[in-house]
Amino acid sequence: AAGYAFHGAHQAGVLAPVRRSTSLLALDVTAVGADGLQELLQTITEKLRFLAAGGTPQELGITAAPSDSGVLGPEVVAGDLTATLAVGASLFDGRFGLASVKPSKLRTMEDFPNDALDRTICDGDLLLQFEADDNDVVVHAVREVLRATRAGMQLRWRQDGFASPPRPSGTPRNLMGFKDGTANPDRTDAKLMSQLVWAHGGANGEPAWVEGGSYLAVRKIRMLVEFWDRVGIEEQQQMFGRYKGSGAPLTGSKEFDDPHYERDPNGGSIPLSAHMRVANPRTPGTDNQRMLRRAFNYDGGIDANGNLDQGSIFTAFNQDIERQFVTVQKRLVDEPLVDYISPVGGGYFFALPGVKNASDWLGKGMF
Ligand code: HEM
Repeated sequence: AAGYAFHGAHQAGVLAPVRRSTSLLALDVTAVGADGLQELLQTITEKLRFLAAGGTPQELGITAAPSDSGVLGPEVVAGDLTATLAVGASLFDGRFGLASVKPSKLRTMEDFPNDALDRTICDGDLLLQFEADDNDVVVHAVREVLRATRAGMQLRWRQDGFASPPRPSGTPRNLMGFKDGTANPDRTDAKLMSQLVWAHGGANGEPAWVEGGSYLAVRKIRMLVEFWDRVGIEEQQQMFGRYKGSGAPLTGSKEFDDPHYERDPNGGSIPLSAHMRVANPRTPGTDNQRMLRRAFNYDGGIDANGNLDQGSIFTAFNQDIERQFVTVQKRLVDEPLVDYISPVGGGYFFALPGVKNASDWLGKGMF
């Protein structure tokens, strides 16, 4: 088992490395009033606590339906699953009396130039992301949480995804064939995470309860793979600024070499328009725009025209979604890669602070 703990200052799914299988569920709350929402959040927390801690599902007696679907057998393994619960701006619209405690930067995701957003797969009151290394663990979690909460929330949209194992080494690859996530800030550096990932109560106009949570940007980005597969490898590499095989910057030879954006003595160079260079130019003052990216692949079969529906579920955690994700996304608007991608869905959410102990529950601080 991977050994993820449920209780802590933060939800374990935020800093966990990308797992092999994921499901994102966007949900709308149907429970009524603050009491109804509290009850819903307590029920979700209880289920997640059990799914994370594992063990034998409770017996309800021989005449009742089993308390667990049994998809994972008689015993749920401890520490396999990570779940991250986030809230959307619409949760603070007044239905639950929460308008005054909205995270200060939380809002509905805008259309950026070149976006082709389908609003039926955007936003939601809640976003629940499951991750595990095995598909059945994720599917089990989806079943168990939804059956326990049917009276309080309903699915708005769902997006499943997967990550590659090391191919052949290092960071997982996206469906354009490039390693994706290489230049992420070091998640083991607590000071850096405190500057880039965690929101702080009382700072930046934030309500006190947000301490230890994080803004989550989700973008479902279709890749026009038929078109991409006709592009020469040299041009592909120039578009990202990295070698396709190793993931090394075009001025280096190993995946984790730092790129050189000054003139490189070895003759290599990285175009000013390269995706990674536009995203993070490494110029003074752009350091605090870095975010923690956790990208997954999706394969949605074929579209109505018989083209492959494949792409990336881009997710990123931010201390401040304006300073980080929005600033970087605006800079990327005219990068060469835009000809090969089409953002179709997603939203902005705020991942709740962690569940501290057995008597705490997700979102308790909001009330
Ligand atoms: C870096 C792919 C969308 C922000 C990279 C890299 C690749 C990549 C291959 C280089 C390796 C790495 O450091 O991970 C893609 C693809 C996208 C996409 C295929 C769309 C389908 C986005 C979006 C954003 C973004 C929407 C943010 C608005 C970044 C950042 C870096 C990066 C910040 C790291 C730059 C650095 O620090 O060197 N991306 N990306 N990417 N990307 Fe993307």
